[in-house]
Amino acid sequence: MTNMMTAVGFQEHLPIEADDSLMAVELPVPVAQGHDILVAVQAISVNPVDVGVRGGHGTLKQPKVIGWDAVGVVQTVGEQVTLFQPGDRVYYAGDFKRPGSNSQYQLVDERLVGLAPAKLNNAQAAAMPLTTLTAWEALFEKMQLTMNPTDNQGQTILIINGAGGVGSIAIQLAKLAGLTVIATASRPETSAWVKQQGADIVLNHREDLVSAWRAQKQGKYVDMILGLSNLDAHWDEIADLIKPDGRIVSITENRQPIDLQRLTKKRASFAWEWMFSKAYYQTDNMSSQHQILTQAAQLFDQGVLKSTLTKTLSPMTVANLKLAHQLVESHHMIGKVVITK
Ligand SMILES: NC(=O)c1ccc[n+]([C@@H]2O[C@H](COP(=O)([O-])OP(=O)(O)OC[C@H]3O[C@@H](n4cnc5c(N)ncnc54)[C@H](OP(=O)(O)O)[C@@H]3O)[C@@H](O)[C@H]2O)c1
Repeated sequence: MTNMMTAVGFQEHLPIEADDSLMAVELPVPVAQGHDILVAVQAISVNPVDVGVRGGHGTLKQPKVIGWDAVGVVQTVGEQVTLFQPGDRVYYAGDFKRPGSNSQYQLVDERLVGLAPAKLNNAQAAAMPLTTLTAWEALFEKMQLTMNPTDNQGQTILIINGAGGVGSIAIQLAKLAGLTVIATASRPETSAWVKQQGADIVLNHREDLVSAWRAQKQGKYVDMILGLSNLDAHWDEIADLIKPDGRIVSITENRQPIDLQRLTKKRASFAWEWMFSKAYYQTDNMSSQHQILTQAAQLFDQGVLKSTLTKTLSPMTVANLKLAHQLVESHHMIGKVVITK
């Protein structure tokens, strides 16, 4: 292994069309210490967080390498590592604060990593860590659901933005848990995709969701709502549709104040999910991401969960990363886009 590696990063926050919105950089290969493993990255995916961090204005002192999804092979391990050894094929989303996966080699804390699903190829596996962690934590930690279908029989969940990366795997997980899934999609191709992921009912989020749900004649309210897009625009519908004692989780932030008072009489609960929280705050339960990715890998290998990969680009160049950013920026993604080595 050489001392230097190539990566793709940016030093100026520029529109993706600009020449230097993303650029090749040469960096020293980092050294694994403590709980870190050094991974030779084989495939990555692009998420809205990449687009968000790259966007904005201004110039950085040093190039920043982003990317929060990877599959790769462990090269070396820190002295405190117990979960992995060199040669292991792993997958992970990683840490918001650290250099990302758009790089030949990357350091990642073993507690955020799982062995990659053996039956998925690199592209199929790289599509999954960030969105699976998000959907899993939202459903099984923040909504406190169990995965046992008999516990959840007859319960309904509305998933707003069913066809995106998170929605696609959230539909599969909610079905696995025995819920009746109402997913939203606004185009024929996204409606078809959410049905393919297992949605029982599809509503159009460009129309009023309250009247669309009530027109189904399946009850006035839904038991749970998972908000995966534009909380400001959907808040009033969420507050109207949630059942008394219902649970709402959102993964997207509001830009305007949201009126929590709308939930008072219904005693409904509201929680945020941010899949980076555990690493960001180095929480005691950080290794739960290792456990989730391990359990998810088993479900992928059993064919119970399916990769939501829809587009693969190759090789891992500046041009292909720009293309992937453009696709995600379009807000029209169905499932996931991956770039392989
Ligand atoms: N908190 C966290 O940990 C976390 C983790 C991952 C993602 N996120 C955030 O969650 C959001 C979703 O992420 P993602 O990766 O699933 O996104 P994505 O893949 O980019 O989502 C694309 C989908 O969004 C749908 N959409 C567009 N406008 C919508 C609207 N107004 N209402 C409902 N759906 C709409 C589109 O469906 P149609 O074409 O059918 O309209 C499209 O298929 C992003 O804002 C992302 O930053 C947060």
